[in-house]
Formats: sequence, structure tokens, C-alpha cells
Amino acid sequence: MAGNKSLHAASKAKEDEFYTELSDIENELKHYKEHFRGKIILCNCDDPRVSNFFHYFSYNFEVLGLKKLITTCYKSQNRDLFSQNDSEKAIWLEYFGDRNGNRVPDPEEIGIHYLNGDGDFRSAECIELLKEADIVVTNPPFSLFREYVAQLIKYDKKFIILGNQNAITYKEIFAYIKTNQLWLGSTLSFAKFKVPDYYEARATRFWIDESGQKWRSMGNICWFTNLDIAKRHEEIILYKSYTSEEYPKYDNYNAININKVSEIPMDYYGVMGVPITFLDKYNPDQFEIVGDSRYHDGQSEADDINIIGGKLLYRRILIRRRQNPYGQSESQMSMAADKGVEI
Ligand SMILES: C[S@@+](CC[C@H](N)C(=O)[O-])C[C@H]1O[C@@H](n2cnc3c(N)ncnc32)[C@H](O)[C@@H]1O
Repeated sequence: MAGNKSLHAASKAKEDEFYTELSDIENELKHYKEHFRGKIILCNCDDPRVSNFFHYFSYNFEVLGLKKLITTCYKSQNRDLFSQNDSEKAIWLEYFGDRNGNRVPDPEEIGIHYLNGDGDFRSAECIELLKEADIVVTNPPFSLFREYVAQLIKYDKKFIILGNQNAITYKEIFAYIKTNQLWLGSTLSFAKFKVPDYYEARATRFWIDESGQKWRSMGNICWFTNLDIAKRHEEIILYKSYTSEEYPKYDNYNAININKVSEIPMDYYGVMGVPITFLDKYNPDQFEIVGDSRYHDGQSEADDINIIGGKLLYRRILIRRRQNPYGQSESQMSMAADKGVEI
């Protein structure tokens, strides 16, 4: 058990030790089975002793038809603080599947290699492993989420990663969403995570189970991916008709406000401000994302525009319909949209 001094230091350190439940992993990854066949999977923020990502891919290696599984384990510099990162050196593992026919990943079938550094996903040796991988799947450190995603995009990798739903509104992440470089996965949940024993008790979203295991919840979490999934091609069924009374415009921005995704009118082709939950239903063939209520053009921060009658509403995503069911030309559509006119 860590002493007072190190507990204090731990509370100040970044709290990144949240271990994903196997059921959350299974519920999401069942939607990607056709993507995994013949592929090299990398889990690069995963201590194999506690990571259910390692567990999922090693136990399902044959069923998924994988080519290879690589796992790197981060060893924190603050070794006295982190009970899980206590081996002498950081390691990486490679697994080529079952060799002895028992369908279980035995220790002698898993290649263990030592890293020179601490296993930081940004280190040169971890980047070499990243280059080798086809698909990266993990729950990365929340505190480094932006940097983590930027690296995946830079190396043009396919990925399925877990993150906090709030990350949607990070400027950098939203820009990838807007340009269809990244989208939400299949499941959204209010997930719970095991956390190390040294994590301090909190007033909310914290509990200890009967075995003494500490748990935390991060609020709503979601998966971020750039792999095509069936959900991305499902159309939102629209049934409401536009009226200016029901769908007022923002005080100083030419877009109508929508309070619920299911209430998007079927006959409006101008810009609409919709709740962030829209992204869970977003089909890029049906809608285009043009910005959000803070980054109107998707790039630069400006004054919030989600204001009606002087009252600031929840953050909104600005979208526009793509379809043109009435046969208008593109220029007619955009002229009408610029004026916020229904056509
Ligand atoms: C949110 S936890 C998730 C752990 C594991 N992937 C899982 O889902 O159970 C993030 C993990 O990233 C590790 N980590 C923190 N900083 C890291 C870094 N710079 N490079 C690689 N891993 C890091 C932490 O030690 C922690 O175990």
C-alpha cells in the first residue's frame, strides 16, 4: 500500500489507469469481425496482465482469423506510485496464435520482448511497432487523447479506440469528425472501469465492490473509429415538417435550432443546429457536418451561436442535409440554404 506522500503525489499525477471491461470490448468489437481477418492488431496502451483487449484478441485469435497480435505495455516513470507498472523494464508481446491445439494463448506461445524505453506510444520503438500494425485497438490514456489520435492519423492507421464522449467537442477531434477521418463506433455506454488500489475515493462515480476492488465511472464513453460499420449507413428516419414557429433560428446565426435528433425536419435544407448525440446516428450520405456552435466553420473558435432569445443552449453541431429529393440544382440548393430557406 502506498504511503501518504506517494498517495498525495498520485492524486496529482494524471489518472490514466482505467481498465476496460471485457463485456464493453465484446459489445463493440463484434461489429468489426470482417475487418480483423488476416490483420495485425496492435494494442499499444495495454499491460497484458490486466488488459482485456489483450485477452479478447488472444483468446479470439483463431475465430477472428488474425495474422498477429502485438501488445505494448507502458511502464510509468513513477514506479512507486503505480502498482501495475512495476516490472524492471517495459515489454512488448507478440502472439501468432495457438500452436499446440488447445485454443488457449499459453505463456510459451507468447513472445516477450524488452523495450529500451518506457513503452510510451510516442517513442521511436513503439512507432516502429505502430507502422507494422494494420488496426490499433485500445483504450488510450484520457489525458493524452488528442496526441494519441493525431499520431494514428499521421501514420494513416485504422483504429478502434475508446474515449470520453466529451472528446467529440475537442477542437482537433471535431475537425477529424467533420472531415470524415473519424466517426463514432457502434456502442455508447455509461461504462465502469476498475482502477488501481492507490486511487483515492471520490464523492461521485466511485465505489468499492465486495472484493475490495475500486471502480470509477467516466460518465458517457464512446468508441472512435475510422473503420466502416453498418451503423454509418443507416438513415435517420425523419417525419417532422419544418415550420418557423417550431424551429426558431439562433439570435445571430442563420441556422435553425433542433432540440432532439428525431425532430430534424425532413424538408429543411439550410443549416441546422443539432445536439451532440446526433453523431451517434450520423450517416455521411444523408447529412454533412458544417461546423459546431463554437467552431462555426469547423476550424477557428468564435463566439457561441447556440443562443435563442438571449439564452445560451447546450452545445450544438451544425449540419445540413445532403439529399436533393426535389431535383433542385446544387446552386439552387446552396442559395436556398444560404438564405436559410426551406425548399
Ligand atoms: C485508460 S487506461 C486503459 C488501459 C487498457 N488499455 C484497458 O483498456 O484496460 C490507459 C493506459 O495507458 C497507459 N499509458 C499512459 N501513458 C501512456 C503512454 N504515454 N504511452 C503508452 N501508454 C500509456 C496507462 O498506464 C494506462 O494503463
